[in-house]
Amino acid sequence: MFIRKNIPLAIVVMVSLVLASCLTGHHDNDEAVTRANQMLARMTLEDKIGQMSQLDPGFFDGEEQLKQAVRDGRCGSLLNYWGVEKVNEIQRIAVTESRLGIPLIIGRDVIHGYRTIFPIPLGMAASWNPGIVKEAFRISSVEASSQGIKWTFAPMLDITWDPRWGRIAEGCGEDPVLASAMARAMVEGIQGDDLTDPTALAACAKHYVGYGFAEAGRDYNTTYISEPLLRDVVLKPFKAATDAGALSIMSAFNDLNGVPATGNEFTLKQILRDEWGFKGMVVSDWASVTEMVLHGYATDDKDAAVKAINAGVDMEMSSTSYFDNVKQLLEEKKITEAQIDDAVRNILTVKYRLGLFDNPYVNPEAQKKILDPAFLDHARKVARQSTVMLKNEGNALPMSENIGSVAVIGPLADAPRDQLGTWCFDGQGENSVTPLRAVRELLGERKVNYVAGLSYSRDKSPDQFNAAVAAARRSDAILFFGGEEWILSGEGQSRGEIDLPGSQSALIEALAATGKPLVVVIMAGRPLAIGDELQDADALLYAWHGGTMAGPALTDLIFGKESPSGKLPVTFVKGAGQIPFYHYRKNTGRPASEKTWTPIEKIPVNPTQNSLGYRSFHLDYGYTPLLPFGYGLSYTTFDYSDLKLSSQVMDASGSITVTARVTNSGNMDADEIVQLYIRDRVGSITRPVKELKGFRRLHIKIGETADVEFVINSADLAFFNGAVTLTEPGEFDVWIGPNSDEGLHSDFIIE
Ligand code: BGC
Repeated sequence: MFIRKNIPLAIVVMVSLVLASCLTGHHDNDEAVTRANQMLARMTLEDKIGQMSQLDPGFFDGEEQLKQAVRDGRCGSLLNYWGVEKVNEIQRIAVTESRLGIPLIIGRDVIHGYRTIFPIPLGMAASWNPGIVKEAFRISSVEASSQGIKWTFAPMLDITWDPRWGRIAEGCGEDPVLASAMARAMVEGIQGDDLTDPTALAACAKHYVGYGFAEAGRDYNTTYISEPLLRDVVLKPFKAATDAGALSIMSAFNDLNGVPATGNEFTLKQILRDEWGFKGMVVSDWASVTEMVLHGYATDDKDAAVKAINAGVDMEMSSTSYFDNVKQLLEEKKITEAQIDDAVRNILTVKYRLGLFDNPYVNPEAQKKILDPAFLDHARKVARQSTVMLKNEGNALPMSENIGSVAVIGPLADAPRDQLGTWCFDGQGENSVTPLRAVRELLGERKVNYVAGLSYSRDKSPDQFNAAVAAARRSDAILFFGGEEWILSGEGQSRGEIDLPGSQSALIEALAATGKPLVVVIMAGRPLAIGDELQDADALLYAWHGGTMAGPALTDLIFGKESPSGKLPVTFVKGAGQIPFYHYRKNTGRPASEKTWTPIEKIPVNPTQNSLGYRSFHLDYGYTPLLPFGYGLSYTTFDYSDLKLSSQVMDASGSITVTARVTNSGNMDADEIVQLYIRDRVGSITRPVKELKGFRRLHIKIGETADVEFVINSADLAFFNGAVTLTEPGEFDVWIGPNSDEGLHSDFIIE
């Protein structure tokens, strides 16, 4: 191992391979592996190749052809095939009519709920509450497994800095510590406590790796990620997922530093298998094996198959380069039988772990739990905790339920499918409770003056503006629900501009001009540039796409049954030109500050060069984002005090405890998300200006004080410096506060 000579006291924190394999929780000598090996010994090459293929029923000419393929052992897995009778019948064919009776594993994208839809994952991350997220994923698995689904392509763990990228909706935002906590919760929820339980699904951490760094946010695009950024940020949630026992990983579409992720031996073999000791199965993304031809990395599908197999992709999703070529590749000695055996062993082991060989069938009774009232209650709770209040001037919120009347305006006020968000295959709009319905149910129809104002978010027609303004004038307050429909975020749905589409801003401006209290609720799959709307609104709630129960969750907050408590899992930028802006950015040699930046309006007509400042900022945006990471308001106030460190000096391999007191000084019981940040002042490579290292969601009653304690271990301060992962001695800042911009400060040193 190479350690840089100029760091004499460096603490090298390379985790040994032995330890890594213990952490993954899988052992070579366990029963599932033994049974997989026994099965492997009975398999022909054709049987093995079949197991390595995952097919979509849409590719067959009808059900009979599909059944014959299963009978012939032509595939090991189906995706997008579900329903009690259908799955039981296809499994019966696999188990009783195929040569070896190997059950299929049925996969589907259950990303944020199956029928009970929870907020989009970016919204769930805004709850900073792994406990409720775990429960949401448990519920999703209970519902999905009742339809024969035993494998979900979740959690999606792509860190991104780019709100233009449509798939920002599916991930947990910009931060590796928050995303890792969510990754653990999601895997634990999906897989449950006992993998052989009928409600357990195999999790699939995706998209491994780097997909969230697509150039300019154009989906599927090229990524260049330095190794420190890869190891310290992008890989972190995947490591958390494999440590939590995720049974599978999906290789991504993108090309990473010139090598497509699906043929990338560095990330898939060296890091995932050798360093982390991952023993689960790797599946490609949809045709990401054969797309390596289009990437210009493989000459043809056959060459692509070699590259994916060499990288350790066990199963090919939807394309058939393995099925078509593996036999010939073996004859030509381009791959080895041992490689095929490894892949098939990984696949079979997952099937044994899930108990599919012992019980491949679904109990029809299980589906009675779908949309269970307790599930809907949980969806409402998650949607409440995911909503972030970004402004509340003059205590415009909460509103009294005794209000005379409200105007409900906006294209998302009554859009049942849209509030479910992207990647929602099975959720149905008919089960959604919209904000309009929830407000009417709470206040009574008579008190609600509803005018959509715009038929959909991109609508530019001012035709309904007069009616909307009239409704506002005859009401005591205005609730505007806008944002983006579900189709504007998600896979392939990237945007170049990230402002409110259509004429929504103009409508909000017209409503503000009435002088009535104006509450703006944004429902969207990405952080939007909402600077103008923040100015126009008296209060603003950012509700993402909140799922089935978004409506009641929002009325719970608007009418004060509970205080908003979510906090931003991403930095909000002022406009697309400010991307990327994230809280763990570097300081640069020319950091800007209040004193050293020149807004564009202040540049004199005849400027001297000095009037520009020569600092790192945009003349038009300034040097700060719109809102910092971790930001979010409450109906109450929290005072932070008494920051204390157990010691000002940390031993090279030790830890220190950081404590603070948080008092609810307002007049409502509420949750506060307390955040711990550090800064490593000097490093062998430059260090971020701030890094989140811990957080707690605390419920604090009026007038009460909570003591919050964080332990910082030296390993938590480790980073990859281009050669090794280490914790370096030196000076550190530490903050405990309500967001990444504010907080109590102290410092310590590592000797
Ligand atoms: C997506 C994956 C998804 C897969 C299967 C792909 O297009 O990138 O996230 O799991 O399709 O539906």
